[in-house]
Amino acid sequence: MSDIKKKKIIIAVDGFSSCGKSTFAKAIASKLGYIFIDTGAMYRAVTLYALEHGAIRSGIVDEEAVVRLLPEISIAFRFNPERGASDIYVNGDRVEGRIRTIEVSNCVSGVSAIPEVRSKLVALQQEMGGRKGIVMDGRDIGTTVFPQAEIKLFMTADPKVRARRRYDELTAKGERVSLEEIECNVRSRDYADMNRAASPLRRAEDAIELDNSRMTVEEQMEWFLKLYAEVTARI
Ligand code: DC
Repeated sequence: MSDIKKKKIIIAVDGFSSCGKSTFAKAIASKLGYIFIDTGAMYRAVTLYALEHGAIRSGIVDEEAVVRLLPEISIAFRFNPERGASDIYVNGDRVEGRIRTIEVSNCVSGVSAIPEVRSKLVALQQEMGGRKGIVMDGRDIGTTVFPQAEIKLFMTADPKVRARRRYDELTAKGERVSLEEIECNVRSRDYADMNRAASPLRRAEDAIELDNSRMTVEEQMEWFLKLYAEVTARI
């Protein structure tokens, strides 16, 4: 482990929604003593703010109104020892518990397709990763945010498996949703993420694909630690 800690690198974890990217990226960060940044939470936080400030009505995103709100949105992460993870704050308000609702999930693709939103958040992400020793998960980390990342993972899983995972997560929190509704949201976000003009989701040429449809987090970790040892031995 001491050797592991010496060579700090940037690890980019990209892929489809509900692939377990955050769970896996968080586990890697805690194993290596790295900082974990969930960039999806940042797009969700902007979406929540837009919903609460009239820039999204009946599910329709008013792009100009979102862009007008941007200068007043300040996003930060603060470590929460109770959760053993960082919570996201917007203008000093902890919004962690409010960004993962189905309402936010349904509107986030529209907000994350706005170029001004992306350039603001990408700049913030680059600033956060400046000191290395970071695991960042998202859609465009290996392609746009850190094209120089030493390790780039691209995670995929069967859409049905992903829908079931998100359904279990939401129902455990008491949200009343149907599996069909979740699967529909997963598929439509895949489409929107891959087909937007600004920074679409795609696998970086040098990214390593990890299909975790049938893998536990422990199996993924074992696979990753081998890769990590190989990469850090080379640099
Ligand atoms: O990872 P997630 O499902 O919480 O992400 C929420 C949305 O944010 C997702 O639909 C796509 C968008 N996103 C993005 O466009 N770029 C990122 N780097 C991270 C997320």
